[in-house]
Amino acid sequence: MPDWIRIASTGECPPGTSIERVVEGRMVALANVDGGWHAIDGLCPHQGGPLGTGHLCGTTLTCPWHGWQFDVATGRHKLSATVRQAVHEVVERDGELFVRLAPDGSAGASLP
Ligand code: FES
Repeated sequence: MPDWIRIASTGECPPGTSIERVVEGRMVALANVDGGWHAIDGLCPHQGGPLGTGHLCGTTLTCPWHGWQFDVATGRHKLSATVRQAVHEVVERDGELFVRLAPDGSAGASLP
């Protein structure tokens, strides 16, 4: 079972925004959806864009490079059922955010 790793303080990611962090060598996009925390793999599967620096609207995160969109709650691409980012667990403790990384290779898998 992977460990919980500090990723940011809550103040670094205000509601309605996302940020990019590197956790154990993996890019992670951390999003604050009205106080609900979500984290997905931050490397866009299209051409490697930085998802965490994209625009967040509701749970939809738009890649800043070419506009691919992902749901930060599920990791799913908004149009393609076969493209999905890994989703990482997030918890908040005393103003600090911690993630537990999903296994490597879980991104891009098709859901049933
Ligand atoms: S790199 Fe993300 S949409 Fe192209």
